[in-house]
Amino acid sequence: MLLAGPPGIGKSTLMLQAAAKLAEKGPFLYASGEESLRQVSSRAKRLGISSEQLYLVSESSLSKIIAAMEQVKPWAMVLDSIQTVTHPQLASSPGSVGQVRECAAELVRAAKAKDTVVFLLGHVTKDGSLAGPKVLEHLVDTVLYFDTDNHDVLRVLRAQKNRFGPTDELGLFEMGEAGLKEVKDATAFFAAELGRAAAPGRAVSVALEGSRPVLVEVQSLVVPTRYPLPRRMSTGLDLNRVLVLLAAMERHIGLRLEDRDCFVSLAGGLRLKDPALDLAACMAVAGSWRDKSVPSDLALLGEVSLLGEVARVPQLELRLREAAKAGFKRALGPARAAKDLPRTLGLSVTGVADLREAAEAAFGVE
Ligand code: TYD
Ligand code: MG
Repeated sequence: MLLAGPPGIGKSTLMLQAAAKLAEKGPFLYASGEESLRQVSSRAKRLGISSEQLYLVSESSLSKIIAAMEQVKPWAMVLDSIQTVTHPQLASSPGSVGQVRECAAELVRAAKAKDTVVFLLGHVTKDGSLAGPKVLEHLVDTVLYFDTDNHDVLRVLRAQKNRFGPTDELGLFEMGEAGLKEVKDATAFFAAELGRAAAPGRAVSVALEGSRPVLVEVQSLVVPTRYPLPRRMSTGLDLNRVLVLLAAMERHIGLRLEDRDCFVSLAGGLRLKDPALDLAACMAVAGSWRDKSVPSDLALLGEVSLLGEVARVPQLELRLREAAKAGFKRALGPARAAKDLPRTLGLSVTGVADLREAAEAAFGVE
C-alpha cells in the first residue's frame, strides 16, 4: 500500500498510530529512513503508544531494512519514506526515480516472499506531480492520499486505487496535541464552519462521500466582467459541471451571464464530485446574481439536467436526515422523489421539478 501526501501533513503520525493498532495482531516493523530511533520513539511516547510488538528501525539502506524484516518477521510493516532509502546496487541519490522504483520493487518482492503487508510512505508536492509516488502506483494494490484540502485542521484520507476494496470511502481526521483524531461527525465539523446567517451566493447541500453524508456549503460570486471574455472559476466542484449548470440557468431561468464573471467554490476547501450539489450550486449563483439569499434553514438537494429539470439523487433520505440533524428546517429536493419520502425526517421537503420552481421556492415568488 502506498500512502502519499505532502510533507508535514501527518503521514508518519497516521502510520504510527495505525501501527499501534496493527501491532495488536502481531509483530509490526516501523522502518524510518527520515527520523532517528529517538525521534520516532519520543513521538510514540507523546502519542501514548507503547507496544511489545511494535519494532522500530532507523535505517536508510534497503538491504538493512530487509534484514530487519528477516529478524522481526513482521506481519505488516511501514517504510517511512520510500524517498529516503537507497538500493545497494544503485549509485543514484535517494529519492530519484530509479531509486524509488527499484527500492519499491525490491520491497514488493520481499513482501510477497514473506507474506508481509507493506505500507510505503511517499512525499508528493502540493500539485501531486512529484515523480516519486506516481511511479509506484502500478506496483501497489492500494494508493491512499492524505491531504488537507486547504483546510487548517482537517486531514482527508482518500483511496485513489484499491485492488481489493472500494475507493469511495473517506477518512476525516483532525491533527491535534495528541496526534490525529478521527472526525466521526463530519457534519458537526463542517457545520461549525458554516456561517448561519443567510447571504447572497450561499447555499447548503448534503454530499455523500463514500457512505458518509457531509453537509457542504456552496459559495458563488457573480460580478460584472471587466475582460473581453467572462471568467468562470470553480474550486472544489468540477469546472465542466459548473459550466453546464451556468448554461442550463441561462437557458431555463433566463439568468444572463454572458457579461458576468462567475466564481463557484465549496467552503472548507472540500473537493467533491457529487451531482446532488448541482441545485445548491445553481441557487448560489442565482442568489449572487440577483443579490438574494437562500434562507439559512433551507438545504438544497438535486441533480440538475441539461433541460433544467431537478433530478433524483442517490440516498436522498439519508442526506435529508443529516440536514435535519444539523438543524435545517426545510429542504428543496427533486419533485419525483419528494412525494415518496417518510414524514419522520425532521424537516419539511418541498419537491421542485425544475430550476424555475427551485428559484421560486428558494428566493420567493418574484
Ligand atoms: P508528520 O506525521 O511528521 O508529517 P509527515 O510524515 O507527513 O511529513 O506530522 C507533521 C506535523 O504534524 C508536524 O508539523 C507536527 C504535527 N503534529 C501535531 O500537531 N500533533 C502531534 O501529535 C503530532 C505527532 C504531530
Ligand atoms: Mg514523516
